[in-house]
Amino acid sequence: MNRFTRLLCWRMLLPVVASLLPMDGVVAAEPPLTASSPSHVVQVQVQVRDGQPYYRLSRFGVVVLDWSRLGLQFSDAPSLADGLSVAGSASRRVDERWQQPWGEKQWIRNHFSELRVAFTSADAATLTLVLRVYDDGFGFRYEVPADARYTQRTISNELTEFAFTGDHSAWWNGAYLPNRYEYLYRHSPLSAIWKAVTPLTMKTAHGLYLSVHEAALVDYAEMTLENVGGNRLKADLIAWSDGSKVKTTGAFVTPWRTVTVAERATGLIDSDLIVNLNEPNKLGDVSWLEAGKYVGVWWEMHIRKSTWAAGDKHGATTANVKRYIDFAAKYGFKGVLVEGWNVGWDGDWIANSELFNFTTPYPDYDFDALTRYAKANGVRLIGHHETSGGIANYERQLDEAMAYMQAHDVRVVKTGYVKRNGLIERIGEAGKPVHEWQHGQFMVRHYQKVVEVAAEHHIAINTHEPIKDTGLRRTWPNWMSREGARGQEYNAWSEGNGPGHIANLAFTRMLSGPMDFTPGIFDLGSDEALRERNLSSTLAKQLALYVVLYSPLQMAADLPENYEAKPAAFQFIRDVPADWAQSRAIDGEIGDFVVIARRDRNSRDWYLGAVTDENGRLLSVPLGFLESGVRYRAQIYGDGIDASWDKNPEAIEISTREVTGNEMLSLRLAPGGGAAIRFAPIGRVK
Ligand code: NOJ
Repeated sequence: MNRFTRLLCWRMLLPVVASLLPMDGVVAAEPPLTASSPSHVVQVQVQVRDGQPYYRLSRFGVVVLDWSRLGLQFSDAPSLADGLSVAGSASRRVDERWQQPWGEKQWIRNHFSELRVAFTSADAATLTLVLRVYDDGFGFRYEVPADARYTQRTISNELTEFAFTGDHSAWWNGAYLPNRYEYLYRHSPLSAIWKAVTPLTMKTAHGLYLSVHEAALVDYAEMTLENVGGNRLKADLIAWSDGSKVKTTGAFVTPWRTVTVAERATGLIDSDLIVNLNEPNKLGDVSWLEAGKYVGVWWEMHIRKSTWAAGDKHGATTANVKRYIDFAAKYGFKGVLVEGWNVGWDGDWIANSELFNFTTPYPDYDFDALTRYAKANGVRLIGHHETSGGIANYERQLDEAMAYMQAHDVRVVKTGYVKRNGLIERIGEAGKPVHEWQHGQFMVRHYQKVVEVAAEHHIAINTHEPIKDTGLRRTWPNWMSREGARGQEYNAWSEGNGPGHIANLAFTRMLSGPMDFTPGIFDLGSDEALRERNLSSTLAKQLALYVVLYSPLQMAADLPENYEAKPAAFQFIRDVPADWAQSRAIDGEIGDFVVIARRDRNSRDWYLGAVTDENGRLLSVPLGFLESGVRYRAQIYGDGIDASWDKNPEAIEISTREVTGNEMLSLRLAPGGGAAIRFAPIGRVK
């Protein structure tokens, strides 16, 4: 096919074609192609200048991202970044609704304008840029068709840039750090970033809120953002040990590069852009997935009351697990997580990943008997696969390991990848050990494989030390939760997360998807807790986390006896669901405070969670989310009058009052505190 016929094909294939088709060579600057969001809020332009493609993003005519470079370079094929011209374009509008099998909301509207721009290079290579423009931001990706001249192409550089229009205030985490995403968020001008992971959150001087992230990260390297000066960030793909960024064969697509834009900080939380940019469910009937709350043999290891390893203090004994099953059955929890059940934990388990065996329980853990006992009590065990980064060892056993869990009636497996330096060892092509980053293409492939093999066994995955979430739960709904930030465990054995962490998480990590934070620590004020831990929270704030930090698998992380010691507060954890019909971020500022309301998927109850940083706050919360004309009983779990995260963490005040959606509710949050509310309908307004 010569160049002219190929251009003609584009014309025939695409319903709407750009007016300009260069007949020969490269024009200096072709006029821009434009796409506007459905309500003409956000506009994107694409233009080729001197053979190089660029894009620009504006909102209500104000530039948000100035002309930013696009394109891909390969180490073993000509680049798709220079010498390009527009071969054709097409646009369409989509407005559809789709249902989440579980989620923070049941129905999601996917309403966007799409612009596809086909580029061709002087040597006849082609690249299509697909842009989807929403009223709250946009996403774009590259589609690269197969090129018979190259069976394999290795991406050496993705040129994608984000040219911000000012030195915005940024909330971010560094990339390439040994503890992966597990750091406290930094807050600085954009210019202080060296390399950041996404989601990266920003606020402009004009009060716009921005989040840069990616969607549908499949068989590609994670995108981090490198500061290249002048308020510009550039895609920096995490490389393989041989220096290549992404290995491709035949046709391929990249993940979507996304920017969410909102007038209020809460608009970032309410956006569905990331899941919308993912493919629909590939698993078909997923009625075997169960959202719900769980307890387990977990916190007791983190506070050194018991051990993962065998011995006198072994936590995963048959007797101890039975105790948790009894507790779960008594209080209505669906799952019991057991860590330390299989051989491999003895000695330095982080260094000895090859020793983990995923089908051999320790002798004092009677998996068969416990499966029967759990079943008789209406509870399911939750499996645990700690790999400590031994990927070859785990993949060798993967299918058998999942089958073994399935045979024990397990429907959820928590996986783990603890390493000391964020690097995974594997045997390279030369037969010698090499080290791969935990977020490069090698590991992206591995995490994906685990999810797909698990699905064959009707098992959901909750990944710890994961690759970041990019909305793949839409496509593989059994990827239900993950960690991917500092969770509660840091409060057990480090200097702690501090009172501001949650108000940061809500506007950063949580924008990517559900998090297994493991909330609900009730022992905040005992001598032991004060001496040995750094929980930096009030009791009411621990309750608020069940609403604020969404996860369809939500742990009640503390020891059974600590819940039984505080039955009134525990009632909230028993009541709160883990699956929602609707969610609304009501109020908040990044790193300061946040208020979120959600409606139960299986009843008409609403729940509200509010948390603050180290500053106490008096908030006026509009209750307009409640059904109009309905009276509700509000059970309010608020901070006690003299509560504070550092001096009096357990002081709680539980009260009940009648409310309607017309009211403003006054909420008093203590320093480092929070509030949790259940609204149950009790009748019509008279
Ligand atoms: C780190 C995980 O985040 C934690 O939940 C788990 O208990 C330990 N690894 C052991 O696997």
